[in-house]
Amino acid sequence: MSIDLPQEDVITLAIESSCDETSVSVLKNGRTVLSNVIASQIQQHKKFGGVVPEVASRKHIENINEVIDEALKVSDMTFEDISHVAATYGPGLVGALLVGLSVAKAIAFAREIPFNGVNHIEGHIYANFIEHRELEPPFISLIVSGGHSHIVYMKDYGEYEILGKTRDDAAGEAFDKVARALGLGYPGGPEIDRLAKLGNKDAIDFPRAYLEEGSYDFSFSGLKSAVLNYLNSKKMKNEKIVVEDVASSFQQAVIEILVDKTIECALEYDLNQITLSGGVAANSALRELLVQRAKEHNLDVKYPSISLCTDNAAMIGCVAYYDYIKGYRSSLDLNAMANLKIGDTYARKILK
Ligand code: KG4
Ligand code: ZN
Repeated sequence: MSIDLPQEDVITLAIESSCDETSVSVLKNGRTVLSNVIASQIQQHKKFGGVVPEVASRKHIENINEVIDEALKVSDMTFEDISHVAATYGPGLVGALLVGLSVAKAIAFAREIPFNGVNHIEGHIYANFIEHRELEPPFISLIVSGGHSHIVYMKDYGEYEILGKTRDDAAGEAFDKVARALGLGYPGGPEIDRLAKLGNKDAIDFPRAYLEEGSYDFSFSGLKSAVLNYLNSKKMKNEKIVVEDVASSFQQAVIEILVDKTIECALEYDLNQITLSGGVAANSALRELLVQRAKEHNLDVKYPSISLCTDNAAMIGCVAYYDYIKGYRSSLDLNAMANLKIGDTYARKILK
C-alpha cells in the first residue's frame, strides 16, 4: 500500500456505541492505543436475558460524557490535543448508534477537526492491527460476533470481498440462545466456553450445516433447533441432562464449521494469513482449533486479546485512521445505519 503518511502525529478520539458497550478510545497514528475505556451495560440487560434497545440508548446517553472524560484522562490528553474524531455509524441498534455518532459529530464541528464514520464489523477486523504491528492485508478474516458471522477477503485497507456470511443466526446469537435454553446467564458465549471445558465434545452428535458444495455461507438455526429438541426430548423422558456435554457438543459443531470454511477460503484464495475477530473470537476452543487446523496447512492465524475481541472503541479508531490517511472524510450529516454492510462507502468521501 502506498499512502503518504501525515507529518504530524494523528491523535484520534473514537467512540463505539452500537450495542451494549459505551466505549471511547484515544489512539496515536491508528495503532497505538493511549486509552480504551469500556463501560459495559451487561448488568442492566442481564435480567432481560438480552439487550433491550431502549435501555441501551438511555445508558449510552448517561455514560458517554463520563467515558470520554476518562479516556482523555487515561491518555493524558485534552480536547485541544485531539486532531481527528471517529464513531461507529452501523450496523447496530439505531438509537444506540445515534448517541456516539451525534457526540462525535458535535466534537468534530466544535473543534473544526476531521470526522470519519466507521463500520463496526470492519472495526472487528482492524482489532488485529492494534496488537499485531506487523500484520498487513491481504488476508482471510473470520468475524464472528453476536450480530454477525462473516468470512471476508481483506484485499487492502478499506477493500473487502465478502466470501461467506450467515443466512440466519449469527454464531454469537446461537451461543446466546442455546445458553438461555440451558438456563445460563447472558451473554451465553463465555458461560458455554467455560462449561464446555468440563464436558465431552463427542457426547451428542449435533448436525453440522455445511450447505451446498463450495458455499462459504453459514447457517446456525438448524443446530440451535437440534439442541432445543434434544433438551425437550430429554425433559419429556425425564432423563438427566448433562449441561457440560450439551455445551461442549454444541460448541464443537459451531467451531468445526467456522474453522473448516475459513481454512478452505484461505486455500482457495492462496492466502497464508488468517485473522479471527469479534466477540466469539474470545472462545478458547475456536482459537485452539483454528490454530491447529491452520498449522496443518502452514497458515498463520492472528487474533486479538479478549478485551479487543468484544466491542471497543480502539478498533473503531484504527479503521478511522486508515480512512483518514487515505484521504477519506465523512460529512457531518452522516446518519446511523442499522443494516450497514461491510464495504459500504457512505462514510468514505474523498477530500477535495
Ligand atoms: O462483538 P461482540 O462483543 O458484540 C457484537 O458486535 O455482537 O460479541 C458479543 C457476542 C455474544 O454473542 C457473546 O455470547 C459472544 O460474543 N462471546 C462468546 C465468548 N465471549 C463472547 N462466544 C463464545 N465464547 C466466548 N468465550
Ligand atoms: Zn461487535
